[in-house]
Amino acid sequence: MTVHFIGAGPGAPDLLTLRGRDRIAASPVCLYAGSLVPRALLDHCPPGARIVNTASLALDAILEEIATAHDAGHDVARLHSGDLSIWSAMGEQMRRLRALGIPFTITPGVPAFAAAAAALEAELTLPGLTQSVVLTRTPGRASTMPAAERLTTFAATGATLAIHLSIHVLDRVVADLTPAYGADCPAAIVWRASWPDERIVRATLGTIVDAAAGGLERTALILVGPVLGADDFVESSLYAPGYDRRFRPRDAASRFAEPQA
Ligand SMILES: C[S@@+](CC[C@H](N)C(=O)[O-])C[C@H]1O[C@@H](n2cnc3c(N)ncnc32)[C@H](O)[C@@H]1O
Repeated sequence: MTVHFIGAGPGAPDLLTLRGRDRIAASPVCLYAGSLVPRALLDHCPPGARIVNTASLALDAILEEIATAHDAGHDVARLHSGDLSIWSAMGEQMRRLRALGIPFTITPGVPAFAAAAAALEAELTLPGLTQSVVLTRTPGRASTMPAAERLTTFAATGATLAIHLSIHVLDRVVADLTPAYGADCPAAIVWRASWPDERIVRATLGTIVDAAAGGLERTALILVGPVLGADDFVESSLYAPGYDRRFRPRDAASRFAEPQA
């Protein structure tokens, strides 16, 4: 018996990986985490599967479900939205499973920030502008932030910021970022990226609060940084004609050129 943690992707049912689909199909028990996991993924469960929405369960109750499946020798598909490596509560579940000696696997999923970038038709790292993306959030009722991880601290890097779980405090986000990025810095919000009711707002830090008025208070990503909408960046060296590289030696004198026989 194995627990299969599976990243369910950002919303569109066809953004599930093939491995994720196959593991769901082979598991007689499916535990899925609330409203952000698209219901269509549950169609992959085998006939007669036990399917449980864990949104209202405490960790102990989730572990009870897993222990019952373990006793019955049934594999469990454990679905969390997006990818499992960020804000999935997988860490605490794995720790319990290790203590119980219950084996598990992890199948990554498409994270929401990647779906939001796709919706915006944006590359979040552009040569000469920024080469880093910060995946972060603001403090919530259930989660405090380490003191060193303030938005103002990340803002000092000038990196692209993908701010999760924070649409309800958009005005505070803007206030924290504006001194470093400037009011003209491009910003965007993507609500429910890849869902049928996806909505996008593009603006600047100075205008985004008004532009977002009337939007949902949940399931949105705030993206901020000069890469958004930038058209005046340099091209990468990697594909420049004169760039010498292993897969495209510049000439016979290149250190990557095949030695002549
Ligand atoms: C608990 S976190 C889960 C993140 C997830 N594990 C991931 O890989 O993206 C939930 C937050 O992710 C963001 N999010 C999740 N799905 C989204 C979507 N389809 N569109 C926009 N933001 C989304 C929102 O900021 C939401 O408040």
